[in-house]
Amino acid sequence: MTDKQSEILQKCARSCEKVDGCEDNNEGYRNIVFLIGAGASTSAGIPDFRSKGGLYERYGPDLFQRLTLECFPQKIYDFYRDFAKEDYAPTSVHEALVGLNAAGRLEGVVTQNIDGLEDKAGVDKNLVHCVHGSLSRFRCSRYLCEGSLTAEEYNRLLPTHETPPQCYLCGQNSLLRPDIVLFGESLDSATVGDSLRALRACDLFVCIGTSLRVQPTASMPLENVTKRAHRIWINRDPPPDMYQENGFFDLCMQDECDSAIKALFPLFFNKPSPHA
Ligand code: OAD
Repeated sequence: MTDKQSEILQKCARSCEKVDGCEDNNEGYRNIVFLIGAGASTSAGIPDFRSKGGLYERYGPDLFQRLTLECFPQKIYDFYRDFAKEDYAPTSVHEALVGLNAAGRLEGVVTQNIDGLEDKAGVDKNLVHCVHGSLSRFRCSRYLCEGSLTAEEYNRLLPTHETPPQCYLCGQNSLLRPDIVLFGESLDSATVGDSLRALRACDLFVCIGTSLRVQPTASMPLENVTKRAHRIWINRDPPPDMYQENGFFDLCMQDECDSAIKALFPLFFNKPSPHA
């Protein structure tokens, strides 16, 4: 382990403590940013996309294509119905985010996940940037229509989800669709702006549970995280070539997301037992 890597581990451990207002940087990181992928939620029981047994194997590789929504919308609603049947609980990764948020050290969470577990765990909504949208909202598929429902409203109104639902507002036979970004669609520009601002401001960047294969998100860290920031990779797999080539990551933890996060931020997990 290099001196830099030991420094990173020490500073992470100290980041579990609340910021005390003094400017001493040795006490931990002050502006931590996470980039999250599906691997952060697999221990909750939600499959990732590309691993064996993942969503693309189960539902087909074209599941999240714009053309699928246009030509075979039922496929997307079937996926949503299966997702909504379960009550997934946040993982240790989300628990650490809540801890860092409470400690005043979280600058932002750029999440590619659409499962809404950051919100469910209780991370400050203003800090979470869902670059690929979220299954927690539905909106009219007509660009100019403002029809939208929360997932709770949608689930209450349409308990069976047997046929794709029409928008209640515009009456144009347009579908109410999950508010997620499909391949062939653009990312929301305000969400991208917030994500890039956070990435540029961080002093610690943690990339966790993502294959980093989907653009434009995959290039965001390379182009925006500054040299002064320390960078950690957490994944069963190594980083993609474009990140390995220039030694972007200071610390690569090829491990399960939950165990790596517990090793980095132990104080959030070493809680005294209520029976002790
Ligand atoms: P992927 O399925 O591409 O990658 C998940 C990564 O996490 C893989 O490298 C896995 O090996 C790793 N992994 C899974 N479980 C893990 C665990 N418990 N511990 C450690 N590593 C684990 O998912 P994403 O990178 O999130 O976009 O995919 C990015 C985007 O592609 C998604 O947001 C989605 C998809 O198409 C859209 O739908 C627009």
